[in-house]
Amino acid sequence: MGNRLEGKVAIVTGGGTGIGEAIAKKFAAEGASVVVAGFPEDPVEQVAKDIMEQGGAAIAFSRDISSEANAKSCVELAVKQFGKLDILINNAGVFPEVNLLQDYTTEGFEYMLKNNIHSAFQMSKAALPELHKTKGNIVSAGSEAGMIGIAQNSPYGGTKGFIHAFMKGLAVEQAQFGVRCNIVGPGPIDTAWTHDSTGPMDSKMVKTMKEATPMGRRGTPEEVANVYLFLASEEASYVTGALYMVDGGITVAKGGVGTEADASMKKQPDGELELKHSKDGHTSIRK
Ligand SMILES: NC(=O)c1ccc[n+]([C@@H]2O[C@H](COP(=O)([O-])OP(=O)(O)OC[C@H]3O[C@@H](n4cnc5c(N)ncnc54)[C@H](O)[C@@H]3O)[C@@H](O)[C@H]2O)c1
Repeated sequence: MGNRLEGKVAIVTGGGTGIGEAIAKKFAAEGASVVVAGFPEDPVEQVAKDIMEQGGAAIAFSRDISSEANAKSCVELAVKQFGKLDILINNAGVFPEVNLLQDYTTEGFEYMLKNNIHSAFQMSKAALPELHKTKGNIVSAGSEAGMIGIAQNSPYGGTKGFIHAFMKGLAVEQAQFGVRCNIVGPGPIDTAWTHDSTGPMDSKMVKTMKEATPMGRRGTPEEVANVYLFLASEEASYVTGALYMVDGGITVAKGGVGTEADASMKKQPDGELELKHSKDGHTSIRK
């Protein structure tokens, strides 16, 4: 496809499914060697194999990256396999439950703290010594929900608000080491999470979400990966501490504007990547 990440080594967490699969494949197509990290149940081996079959370089890492030991091992694998680490993409996350807070389970809340917050903390901490050597960068998954909250999953919005502030703090303190830190804030994206058939949202929530989006549709995983690519590349050399929304306008919208979207906006672009796991994501608590 291109060479915007030629010679770079990247870790993509949550790289087996949804947006992560698109990021891993997009980065590899642009010349990066990629560690595709995910839970043992995730199709990370498959994604790495697809990349290699297309002539790219990739290796799978099948472990829970929210633990300190596993995060360190993941970074060690990148260095052992590819010699260095230039880019960390903290994309891993979970959305296990939709409930009013009075009914929200403590288990679901703690599951999100572990997989949305500990994962980004541990991976960033483990990666920084290597990123200092390469003057690399980190891009983490925020969310429109981290900006304005999300009804019926208010704790999820809280975990994403953490990511926004965490990354902005990192951007300031890590500039002295030559490391840039940014955030991508997806809106409703066409993965398992935003369909009532594959995730915890009910059909009413899905309908409201689409109507509230000025572009009147979900974004594709590849449309989100395009923005990760820009932020991770040298083209964003003067961008740090930034939050780039990829949300079809939902964060700034009021009311049911999505019904009025032009037909050209309502049509998802075809994209260039062959994605096989867009809807295979993580939407329930795994023991
Ligand atoms: N889909 C959306 O509408 C949307 C909106 C805003 C933000 N986001 C963010 O984008 C990211 C990707 O979401 P997605 O929709 O592609 O979901 P997804 O479930 O397809 O992808 C997330 C992946 O991360 C993996 N993962 C989670 N915790 C992990 C851990 N501790 N160790 C290893 N792997 C782990 C999951 O197994 C899964 O494969 C998430 O951080 C999410 O919060 C998504």
